[in-house]
Amino acid sequence: MATTKQLDDLFLDTLKDIYFAEKQILRALPKMARAARSEEGKSGFLQHRDETQGQIERLGKVFEFIGKPARGKTCEAIQGIIADGEEIMEEFKDSPALDAGLLSAAQAVEHYEIARYGTLIAWATQLGLKDAVPLLKANLAEEEATDKKLTELAEKSANANGQKAA
Ligand SMILES: [Fe+2]
Ligand SMILES: [Fe+2]
Repeated sequence: MATTKQLDDLFLDTLKDIYFAEKQILRALPKMARAARSEEGKSGFLQHRDETQGQIERLGKVFEFIGKPARGKTCEAIQGIIADGEEIMEEFKDSPALDAGLLSAAQAVEHYEIARYGTLIAWATQLGLKDAVPLLKANLAEEEATDKKLTELAEKSANANGQKAA
């Protein structure tokens, strides 16, 4: 059967998906901050929690621009990625490798977000949603900066600490 769904429907679906994902991430980051052993890890997770709050507000504006209510749609991908992180917190809670694991879990989240925002920016551009593009690009820039910071933290100390005796 032919479908009448088009690119604007895909855009809205994916916008709902990332809106749901950002809200889940907002709840996960304080838990990761509490779990982290290093002060830098803790403060990094909390800083990104604050950024995530701002990202959710930007997404709210994107919904406004397209005249749709800001509503999330269950995203099983982010639930799975967050569940993986929780498993690491549980299984490595007394391990010197905990932070290396937490950083890797956070990096999986960031890469998911980067993929989503890259797609949304391309589709918003194609659809001529000029007001949405800078908001989505602002979110993407924060995810990319966070991704870099996670790599730095891991390479600077967390990975090496994970190799030491407890
Ligand atoms: Fe985000
Ligand atoms: Fe993020």
